[in-house]
Amino acid sequence: MDRIIVNGGTPLNGQIPISGAKNACLTLMPAALLSEEPLTLTNAPRLSDIRTMTELLESLGCEVAALQDGRVLVIGTEKISNHTADYDIVRKMRASILVLGPMLARDGHAVVSLPGGCAIGARPVDIHLSGLEALGADLDLRDGYVHAKAPKGLIGATYELPFASVGATENLLMAATLAKGTTVLKNVAREPEIVDLAECLRAMGAQIEGEGTPTMTVEGVDRLHGATHQVVTDRIELGTYMIAPVITGGEVELLGGRRDLVGAFSDKLEAAGAVITETPNGLVVSRKNGIKPVDVTTEVHPGFPTDLQAQMMALLCFADGTSVLEEKIFENRFMHAPELMRMGADIEVHGGHATVNGVKSLKGAPVMATDLRASISLILAGLAAEGETVVSRVYHLDRGYEHVVRKLSACGAKIERISE
Ligand code: EPZ
Repeated sequence: MDRIIVNGGTPLNGQIPISGAKNACLTLMPAALLSEEPLTLTNAPRLSDIRTMTELLESLGCEVAALQDGRVLVIGTEKISNHTADYDIVRKMRASILVLGPMLARDGHAVVSLPGGCAIGARPVDIHLSGLEALGADLDLRDGYVHAKAPKGLIGATYELPFASVGATENLLMAATLAKGTTVLKNVAREPEIVDLAECLRAMGAQIEGEGTPTMTVEGVDRLHGATHQVVTDRIELGTYMIAPVITGGEVELLGGRRDLVGAFSDKLEAAGAVITETPNGLVVSRKNGIKPVDVTTEVHPGFPTDLQAQMMALLCFADGTSVLEEKIFENRFMHAPELMRMGADIEVHGGHATVNGVKSLKGAPVMATDLRASISLILAGLAAEGETVVSRVYHLDRGYEHVVRKLSACGAKIERISE
C-alpha cells in the first residue's frame, strides 16, 4: 500500500485547480441508464470511485469511453443487458445504489445489492426504498439484494423524505423523470450536486422544477435523449484546499472556486481567521493573523457540510482557544481525531461532539487514514506540523482527491508519495 510523506512548516503559495465534483459525477453517470442515447460528461474527475462506477455501468451493458485522459466520459446505454448490480462491486462503493432508480425507471426491473455500511456509519438505504415504493415499485429484500419490479412502469406520486438524504433524492429524482404523471418530492436534499443532476436531466429532456429548494416537481416523460453536461466544480475539494493556506500561513488561489458553492463553510473559515477574496479565476485565500477557535455543526445543505468536518478539525487543532464540533449527519465520523491526537492535538470526543483545545504546534508522526475525508485532514495537519508525517492507507485518498501530491507540491508543499 502507498504512503504519503509530508514535511511540515512551509507556507503554501500559488494556485490549485479544482476538479469536477466526485459526488456529482457519481450520480450523473448512472443517469445515462435513463436513455438509449449517449450521455457525455465533461470536467469529470480522475478518481478511483469514478473507475468503480465505470466498472459497474459496464457490467450492466453500458459502453463507457474515457476520453482526454478521463476528463470526458461518453456513456452509451443502447440497452441494459444485465439488470443485476453485484455485491462485489457495490460493496466497494455505496454510490452504486444509484443505479437502482434509473434501471427501474428505464426497464421496470432491477436487482441491486444492498451497499452495506462503511467506516463512517451504517449508511441504510431505507429512504431510497420507501420512495421507490411510493412511485409504485414492488421491492423484495432477500439474500442481501433489493429485487425491484415495476412491470407497468413507475407512477408519479407525492413523497416526503423523512430526512433530506442526498442519495435518496438523487435516486428518486432520476426514477421520477420516466414515471407516468407528476411526482412531487418534499424535504429533498438541496446540495449543489442535486442541482447539477437536475440540470443534466433537463438537458436530456426531463421536466423538473424546484432543484435547490426543499420541494422538487417532476412531470414524467416517455423517454430521455442524449446530452452533454459539464460536471460542477467539487465544493468539497475546494473547501479542503481553502484550508491549506490558512493552516500553513500562505496565500493560494483556488482556480474555478466559487463562494456560492461553499457559503456556510466560508463563513466559518473567515471566523477562524481566513481572508477570502473572489477573483475572475476563482477564490484567493490567506490568513489574517492567528487561527481563531470556532464552533461547527454539520447540517444538510446549505449548512456546514459533513464532508468538510474532518478538514476543519485539523485547522482548529492550531486555534488559540477551544472549538466544539458537532457531527449531526453520520454516527461515526471522528475517526481522524485519534490520529490527530498522535500528532499532539488535544481533542475529546463524546458521541457526536468533539472538543478541540488548540495547541501551539503539532508534531509530525506516522498516522493512518481511515476514510476519505479523514485522510486529507491528516495531510492538512502534516503540512503545518513540525517534522515528518507519514500517512498510510492512502487508497482512501485516491477515491476523492485527484493528484493531491502534484497540486500541493505546486504550492511549495514538501510532500511525496511512496509505493510500498
Ligand atoms: C452523500 O452520501 C455523499 N456521497 C457523502 O459524501 C456525503 O457525506 C453525504 O451525501 C451527505 O452530504 C455521495 O454523494 C456519493 P445521505 P449519501 O443519504 O447519499 C442517513 C464523501 O466523503 N440515511 O444524505 O449516502 C445516512 O445514514 C461522501 O464524499 C438514512 O438513514 O448521504 C446518513 O446518516 C461520504 N436512510 C444521513 O442519512 C437512507 O435511506 C446522510 O446520508 C439514506 C440516508
